[in-house]
This record gives sequence, structure tokens and C-alpha cells, in this order.
Amino acid sequence: MRRILVTGGAGFIGSNFVHHLVANTDAYVTVLDKLTYASSEASLAGLPGDRVKLVVGDIADAAVVESLVAESDAVVHYAAESHNDNSLSDPAPFVQTNIVGTFILLEAVRKHDVRFHHVSTDEVYGDLDLDAPKRFTEDTPYQPSSPYSATKAGSDHLVRAWVRSFGVRATISNCSNNYGPWQHVEKFIPRQITEVIEGRRPRVYGDGLNVRDWIHTEDHSSAVWTILEKGRIGETYLIGADGEKSNVDVVRAILRHFGRPEDDIEWVTDRAGHDRRYAIESGKLRSELGWEPKYQDFDKGLAATISWYQENEAWWSPLKHETEAKYAAKGQ
Ligand code: NAD
Ligand code: DAU
Repeated sequence: MRRILVTGGAGFIGSNFVHHLVANTDAYVTVLDKLTYASSEASLAGLPGDRVKLVVGDIADAAVVESLVAESDAVVHYAAESHNDNSLSDPAPFVQTNIVGTFILLEAVRKHDVRFHHVSTDEVYGDLDLDAPKRFTEDTPYQPSSPYSATKAGSDHLVRAWVRSFGVRATISNCSNNYGPWQHVEKFIPRQITEVIEGRRPRVYGDGLNVRDWIHTEDHSSAVWTILEKGRIGETYLIGADGEKSNVDVVRAILRHFGRPEDDIEWVTDRAGHDRRYAIESGKLRSELGWEPKYQDFDKGLAATISWYQENEAWWSPLKHETEAKYAAKGQ
């Protein structure tokens, strides 16, 4: 697998994976990215030009996709519309990119018999009760709640069908909530960090008791590489690092870091259909493929992420105003 096509490689998690490939393998990487509002070319700056090439294009453009897939040994598919709140305001681009785009990629890897890894989310399983003893496993039934998670579930089903019906050599991973550098300020942790840096209060939906299972994006990248190298074709692997935290606890940790009172919170309108709790049981990935997360101290990872946003205000500041204007229009 010396030539790897990474879709969505200019986004938050995809760009981390490109850095991971350059640092840990001898692969040549082509990034296919449409450079939507969520992307950042800066996240790829400094990578060696003889190892990494950026092609600006749409995964739903069959001609572009086919020419790139034909010259690749593997495709790792990150490109997506990724934000739940946006999918509630306008689901159309989610259907187009997440479902139609994945279909176009699958047809190309089928034609050229290229190894495919599909990056998906734990949200395809719906949510858990706060006090449920169970966590998501690879056998949990699909029950997506939002337009975003429904389109990701649809894309997972396409991949499974292309494996079974056409023998496509694919694996799927479903990961929990990522945090780390380069995440767009529309997402929960960067939004709250940058609200506090700008002197405002963090903004928490509903009662703040919703639980997310946090994993550092570096650990997501090492897991995807492990699956690409060692995963069994046709299998799904759940990726998680035992990082369950309520939203209000995360916000309190951010406030503590800045020396602000822990109750200095703006309680705002809840998200429609807001999933209550996500939690990943990642035993299959650990026992079968020997993967372990490295960033298990959430407070340390959060502190490093806060420092990164403090040091990179020039990157996020131009995105902040427009993002907050969209939230303000919804009372969030
Ligand atoms: P992101 O929104 O930060 O980045 C998405 C990237 O895809 C952007 O660079 C964007 O320009 C590109 N893109 C969008 N539409 C495209 C199209 N039609 N053609 C080509 N490129 C296109 O997303 P992210 O948070 O980095 O998520 C990446 C993947 O990981 C997604 O598939 C998402 O579902 C999955 N995932 C994310 C998380 C998380 O916590 N963020 C967790 C589990 C899984
Ligand atoms: O679980 C994996 C998923 O995690 C990925 O598939 C998605 O691409 C990714 O965006 C993320 O989805 P969430 O909806 O969980 O993430 P978000 O950062 O939008 O919100 C996290 C939690 O914080 C959620 O319970 C909603 C809440 N929230 C969010 C924002 C933006 C707030 O309370 N206030 C906010 O301002």
C-alpha cells in the first residue's frame, strides 16, 4: 500500500491521518478534498511535496474519482459533511456527499479492485440511556437520529453491500467523538475554548448532561492505520478510548483551565433530536488487531488542545464570526 488516496484529507481528522502516514509509513499520499468551509489547507502545510499531493475536487465527481482511484493501492475515505447542527438546517449536502459521494467511490474501487477503508461514526447506532450498563459494539443495531447520522448509516450500508455483492475489499470503522488541533470552531470543544478566549461564556445545549466518548484524533489515526494494515476484509471495527464525559463536565474543565468560575455557563436552546449518550466498547479492535490508545489522560489532552487554540488564533479567528452568527440565529 504505497499509494494511498485520502478523501477529506484537508479536514480535521483526515489531515491528522495524512500527517500520521507521512511520519509512520513510506506511503505516497494523494488528498482528494473539495475544500469546503470545514477544510483547512493550512493543516497540510509543511508536509513534503514529494510525498503528499492535494487534488481539489468532489468525491461525487465520477471522472476525477476514477482517475485517482485507478492509480492508488488503497483509499481511506474521510470526506463528509460532518456537523449535526448543519444537517438539521440543510440536509441536502449531507445526502449528496455522504451517500452519493460514497457510492461514486465504491463504484471506482469496485472497477479497479482497490482496497477501501470507510471512516464512519458511532452515531449510526443512535444513543444510549445515561444509566444503561451497555456500550455500543459491532453488533448494535443501526438506529441513527439525525440527518447527518442517517447519511453516515446509509454510507455504511452501501459499503457492506458492495463487499457482499461485489467482493469489494473494504473495512469500516465507527469512531466516537474526536478532539485535538485543527477542529472547526463550530464543534463543541473548539467552540467553548474560543468563546472563553474571546471573553464570553461557554454555550451548553439543554441540561448539559449528554455524554460523549472522547478520543484524541491521533489515536483515531493510529487505529485507522492498524485496520488498513491488519483488519479483516468485510469487518467493522469500533474505535474508542474509554473517554465518556458529560458536556457540562467538559465545559467545567475548560473554565477551570482559564481560572473562571465553573458555573459561568450560558444555557442555550437544545439541539433537536439530541442524542443522549454515546459509549464505545472497542475490545474487538484491541484484542484482534492489538491497537491501544496513547492519549488516555483527557485533562492533559484537553490542556494541550486549549494551548493549541491559544497559539493559533490567526487560523480560527476568521471562521469564528460567521459560525457564531449561524448559531445566534437559532438561539444557540
Ligand atoms: P470535517 O468536516 O472537519 O472535514 C471533512 C472534510 O471533507 C473537509 O476537508 C471537506 O472539505 C471535505 N469534503 C466535504 N465534502 C466533500 C466532497 N463532496 N468531496 C471532497 N471532499 C469533501 O470532518 P471530520 O470531523 O474531520 O470528520 C472526518 C470523517 O470522520 C467524517 O467521515 C466523519 O463522519 C468521521 N467521524 C468524525 C468524528 C468526529 O468526532 N469529528 C468521529 C467519528 C467519525
Ligand atoms: O460521535 C461522533 C460524532 O461526533 C461525529 O460523527 C461527528 O462528525 C462529530 O461532529 C461529533 O458529533 P456530536 O454532535 O457529538 O459533536 P458536537 O461537537 O457537535 O457536539 C458535542 C456535544 O456537545 C453534543 O452533545 C452537543 C453539545 N453541544 C454542541 C455545541 C456545538 C453543546 O452543548 N453546545 C455547543 O455549542
